[in-house]
Amino acid sequence: MTRRHRHPRGHSPSPSAGASLSRRDLLKTAGLAGAALALPAADLLAATPPPDPALAAPATMMGVPFERRDEARIAVVGVGGRGSSVVGELLGVEGARITALCDVVPAHVQPAAARLPAKGFPAPAQFIAGERDFERLVQRDDIDLVYTATPWEWHVPVCLAAMKAGKHAATECPAAMTLDDCWELVKTSEATRRHCLQLENCTYGFNEMLVNTMVKAGVFGDVLYAEAAYIHDLRSLLFSDEGEGLWRRAPHTTREGNFYPTHGLGPVSWYLDIHKGDRFDYLVSMATPEHGLSLWREAHVPKSSPKWAEKYIAGDIDTSLIRTVRGKTILLQHTVTCPTPYSRLNSIRATKGVFLDYPPRFYLDGQKGGEQFVDIDGFKADYTHPLWKQLGAVASGAGHGGMDYIMAWRLVQCMREGLPPDYDVYDAAAWSAPWPLSETSLRHGSAPVRFPDFTRGAAKVTL
Ligand SMILES: NC(=O)c1ccc[n+]([C@@H]2O[C@H](COP(=O)([O-])OP(=O)(O)OC[C@H]3O[C@@H](n4cnc5c(N)ncnc54)[C@H](O)[C@@H]3O)[C@@H](O)[C@H]2O)c1
Repeated sequence: MTRRHRHPRGHSPSPSAGASLSRRDLLKTAGLAGAALALPAADLLAATPPPDPALAAPATMMGVPFERRDEARIAVVGVGGRGSSVVGELLGVEGARITALCDVVPAHVQPAAARLPAKGFPAPAQFIAGERDFERLVQRDDIDLVYTATPWEWHVPVCLAAMKAGKHAATECPAAMTLDDCWELVKTSEATRRHCLQLENCTYGFNEMLVNTMVKAGVFGDVLYAEAAYIHDLRSLLFSDEGEGLWRRAPHTTREGNFYPTHGLGPVSWYLDIHKGDRFDYLVSMATPEHGLSLWREAHVPKSSPKWAEKYIAGDIDTSLIRTVRGKTILLQHTVTCPTPYSRLNSIRATKGVFLDYPPRFYLDGQKGGEQFVDIDGFKADYTHPLWKQLGAVASGAGHGGMDYIMAWRLVQCMREGLPPDYDVYDAAAWSAPWPLSETSLRHGSAPVRFPDFTRGAAKVTL
């Protein structure tokens, strides 16, 4: 399958102002490079203006409950690797029904659709008439929430179409690739009163939920610092001629920065009470040179391949630092082009102790046995999250160690019981923003760049 994806808005994905130039393009003109790099940090911090009264939200979507319903009727757009796994999880959740599926490749829809009658559900409606067929799908009246598991560039168009048609929207990660698109999601969610959720499965991981329970119980005291990351050797996948290989290598030729921030940042945001007493304030970023994709291509890709026309500009390892308004700091790293075991870092340092993941280990001030790490087992009895206690046995065979099932179950529970979702459009925007912000920082000599307050003051900071 060699289908290529066009950008939904008829142009290549462009980040916020000025970022469509690569760093190397920028440096080609000495004067321009000098001007860009000489821009004082204070100017970049000021570059995101304080909330504009003209942008004032009609009303926040924070804490807004779903409407109570007996059944959560869900449509899935994009049933490739991730979408078909999501279909599998939802099929195992009582009260969930998949009513429609959509994909540009009919052969991806059919096997997913066939799983429904096999489980006793009616066959879902199928939308396979091209890149914008989701616009027909969202018009149906048997859908409560549209879940997009498409390539990144389609997340925003699908979510906007869903909300404008009166459906809640849920997206895979990252929700958006530019600040403008982050704002578009926020404004549309507020205007339509529909939720737009970035379904971040890693917030439902066993370790993440256990650590968050300990944080909220005060075991760690005040959390001062956290580490979050997406460290995953994707070199083979990025050069594949199917699946993510068809679209996920392209940003490495046009964009820089921290491409995939949300798996690490979602859980860490919960530990640090982001939008529940604190907020991301500003970010600085540094990146290494690019070698990983070039070396892989040299070793594995025949010289006749069109892939040899590509020039990779994204550095192999992006390391960003985020400071919150309350002065907490977060290290956020992204690397998918180096040989490495998988890690999301997932760690905290706090006034009463430390948690480090991969493998999980703790040190608490004054603990028996002195200054050495202890493993997670001793904490399971007291701090396993209630959702894992209730669902752990069913979830254990599910995707990503079970967290995918817990996330699907919890989404359906919130929808059926009329609860507010665990996270909202402001979280989706703030967790996705580090990509464009890190790109701006890199292009200005690692200068600090201010996070927009996507909540426009609704998330109060308790100092
Ligand atoms: N949360 C996780 O753990 C996790 C894991 C893997 C992927 N993802 C995310 O899921 C998304 C999809 O990744 P994937 O691995 O499934 O990729 P994939 O390439 O396997 O699947 C994408 C699917 O979308 C379809 N598609 C493309 N354009 C479309 C359009 N306009 N309308 C409808 N369908 C369209 C493709 O044909 C394909 O079937 C990405 O955002 C990725 O980052 C998340």
